[in-house]
Amino acid sequence: MDEKTGSTGSAMGTVDQDKVMEFLMRVVTDGGAAAAGLCTSLGDRLGLYTAMAGSGTMTSAQLAERTGLHERYVREWLAAQVAGEYVMYDADADGYLLPDEHAAVLADPTAPTYAAGFFTMMQALYGTEDVLMEAFRTGSGVGWEEHSSALFAGTAKFFRPGYTGALVPEWIPAMNGTEAKLRAGAEVADIGCGYGWSTLLMAEAYPASKFHGFDFHRPSVEAARRNAEEKGMADRVSFEVATAQDFPGQDYDLITFFDCLHDMGDPGSALQHARAALSEDGSCMIVEPNVSADVRENANPIGRAVVSASVAVCLPSALAQHGPLAMGNHAGEDAMRMIADDAGLHHWKLAAETPVNRVYAASR
Ligand SMILES: C[S@@+](CC[C@H](N)C(=O)[O-])C[C@H]1O[C@@H](n2cnc3c(N)ncnc32)[C@H](O)[C@@H]1O
Repeated sequence: MDEKTGSTGSAMGTVDQDKVMEFLMRVVTDGGAAAAGLCTSLGDRLGLYTAMAGSGTMTSAQLAERTGLHERYVREWLAAQVAGEYVMYDADADGYLLPDEHAAVLADPTAPTYAAGFFTMMQALYGTEDVLMEAFRTGSGVGWEEHSSALFAGTAKFFRPGYTGALVPEWIPAMNGTEAKLRAGAEVADIGCGYGWSTLLMAEAYPASKFHGFDFHRPSVEAARRNAEEKGMADRVSFEVATAQDFPGQDYDLITFFDCLHDMGDPGSALQHARAALSEDGSCMIVEPNVSADVRENANPIGRAVVSASVAVCLPSALAQHGPLAMGNHAGEDAMRMIADDAGLHHWKLAAETPVNRVYAASR
């Protein structure tokens, strides 16, 4: 070791030990977050955050009683929450507090700021590791349907808050003339609709219109039907199993693709089919992750999460469809725009943007 600089020589060249330690701490921090994610998911799924929300300071025994869980486990979970500064500990009262601002992010799945669904998705992503090892070696795809049900439920939970916050108040008004059509009574197809939250949000806001959700994944379509029943909207919202390349119907005023076009092996034929199914002045709304085709621009928490999900789900899903493309989720606006143009959707604009999504309007 060089006494003055703290550097050591190695087969990889001179190593700056301070930088090594700095990077080691970063990886340790990431490891802590990865381990804590399981506790966040447990807190979400077991109703611990919901039970703490707005309840002031509680002891572990009170929280255990309210949730019907074992106190010893709850106390251990609370200790982990305090270590992550999600929950505050009052030593005098031996009590735990979930601040209201944290409850807005962890306790209410209908809030636009709810983010705990992310961790349900993580359960599925970590579970794909062995299958992905094989896929990396063979180049084969991993179909959407091959994942565990936590992926389908987690994806729905993860995206729903963003749609709740922006779809009706911002995105639809940003699509030229579409809002007026929906108010008057329009036909809408939602492609790759998953659990149908995007479809149902639109249906709730525009009762004069009819909505048709399509997805090639039967269990998701069945979940979407249950959601429509529960919301009392099954009379004017239908959910059917169909691919983006063969969904039925004509003269749609609006055809939406929420975070699904890049998952397809043939997004071009999906957009060609959509173009043919649009009414004369209808539009497509294409919602994609807000990440960049320039890999350097994704070095931020959202970019990192989204592109990592592409490795585990989006790219393998597209490869499993054996189409001409496997874009991953960060191919960027220019690539999408070119595919749309080739499909006959020549008018294109960035209609809206959030930290998570970019919303494109495409029409003939
Ligand atoms: C990331 S999920 C998004 C689901 C939903 N749109 C949302 O935003 O919550 C992608 C969805 O696209 C569907 N999908 C992928 N390829 C498809 C295809 N070729 N045809 C129909 N659906 C497809 C999957 O089944 C899955 O439900």
